[in-house]
Amino acid sequence: MTRVFSGVRSSGRLHIGNYFGAIKSWIDLQNKHESIFAVVDYHAITTPYNPKGMKRMVWDTILDFLAAGLNPKKTSIIIQSQIPEHTELAWIFNTLTPVSWLDRLPTYREKIEAHPQNANMGLLDYPVLMAADILIYKADIVPVGEDQIAHIDLANEIVKRFNYLYGPTFSRIKPFFSKGARIMSLSDPTKKMSKTGGEGIGLYDEPEEIRDKIKKAVTDSGREIIMREDKPAISNLLLIYHLFSGKSIKAIEKKYQDKGYADFKKDLAEIIVKGLEPFRQKRKELEKKPRYVKKVVASGVDRARKIASKNLLEIKRKIGLI
Ligand code: TYM
Repeated sequence: MTRVFSGVRSSGRLHIGNYFGAIKSWIDLQNKHESIFAVVDYHAITTPYNPKGMKRMVWDTILDFLAAGLNPKKTSIIIQSQIPEHTELAWIFNTLTPVSWLDRLPTYREKIEAHPQNANMGLLDYPVLMAADILIYKADIVPVGEDQIAHIDLANEIVKRFNYLYGPTFSRIKPFFSKGARIMSLSDPTKKMSKTGGEGIGLYDEPEEIRDKIKKAVTDSGREIIMREDKPAISNLLLIYHLFSGKSIKAIEKKYQDKGYADFKKDLAEIIVKGLEPFRQKRKELEKKPRYVKKVVASGVDRARKIASKNLLEIKRKIGLI
């Protein structure tokens, strides 16, 4: 059976980029394949964080997964640090990954440029742990946003090198991209929407906050509402409109051809508010059921760990440690 794996860092509240870029595909894929979805807390601690707040962030991310529609009867929801096989395999992969594959990755470069004082080993090694997350389960499909392409490519290099050195063990990983695989920031459409800046729309933002953010979203010069390369800001807003409404881009462009940005933005804000309402409701219900949520994670970890420990044993045998 095909296996699907993906993860989200517990480094802030989820935004609509995380949802349309990754989690929405998880919801679809969980019905067709065996799947494991992780809160990757070891990845989250590679950048500065508050230890007192981490437990809450992990918990919030799990509630977000469930509120977005992951079904614990169909999928395993796990916390990365509770399955030590991930980091054990990462260590093994470290021994076959040249440093030169890692220190030139754009994600690493960007992060150390932003915080030079935080150029730690974990940050450099981040993609190796990500490869281990996927390969400890020998997952075939990894639904992610486009910002993860370089990481998946690197994982596939590790696959090749491992198989060459120790015999066929892993298959090539296939990334899975959705239509929303690249949602850009509302304040700068050349940058991706992210968890940290205020330029994203959180899945649980209050209606007033959403209206305000859309009102303030940058637009391009001119007043055409059209998806075109030279109009990155309005193209991004059109994509968000399309993803929330299900209407084709052509139909949306037509609807607003004689209208201005103000009308378009007003409608877009209401569509988002309405689209996010079910998440808000479901999340409120889940907040009241901590015991249920804990059980979901415990059984997910239990199921996943069985697969991870069996695979790690095979890998250790292959590399001569058993
Ligand atoms: P993270 O936590 O940054 O993001 C989680 C998922 O959301 C996608 N995403 C976006 N998609 C579209 N538009 C955006 N603006 C946007 N921002 C984020 C990301 O591509 C991702 O799919 N390295 C990963 C976590 C990870 C992982 C893994 C993923 C660790 N191990 C193994 C897959 C498999 C990350 O930082 O995601």
